Amino acid sequence: MSTSTRERLLKWLQDAYAMEQQADAMLTALAGRLEHYTSLRNRVLGHAAETRQQADDVRGCIERLGGAVPAARSMAASAAGSLQALGNALMSDEVVKGMGASYAFEYLEAATYRALVIAAEAAGETDIAEVCNRILQQELAMAEWLRANHGGIVQEFLQREPDAPGLARR
Ligand SMILES: [Fe+2]
Repeated sequence: MSTSTRERLLKWLQDAYAMEQQADAMLTALAGRLEHYTSLRNRVLGHAAETRQQADDVRGCIERLGGAVPAARSMAASAAGSLQALGNALMSDEVVKGMGASYAFEYLEAATYRALVIAAEAAGETDIAEVCNRILQQELAMAEWLRANHGGIVQEFLQREPDAPGLARR
């Protein structure tokens, strides 16, 4: 294993840890605005809990490599930052916008962990590869749930709020 592969693995784990901090904040904020959409709210809350466990597991991987755990924001967080800003600025069609943002974000997370699995295997860190693969499956499961339920939620929104300003302007 080269030093650079190990260093890259550590850096990507630190990025992933920061990403999970943002994910938790975004999911929790989104869940608070979904009182009329029970199934989506429950799935989002469930994934927020899953996300906190993922952050703990990634922290363990960082410590295993002897790295520093990021304090708060870092580079990976900036990708999520725009989504969080969207979460903060959601208007009457927040459920549609928030679900779309979450859908995109879960695939960003999945891609992050797929890269981490490959990097961990390249570095000979099989335990870390296993952790990242387990998280990858959770991200894909959340992405698939959002994909499968997206159309139904949009239809429910249109029936519930036919005169929503966000749509009336189109
Ligand atoms: Fe996720």
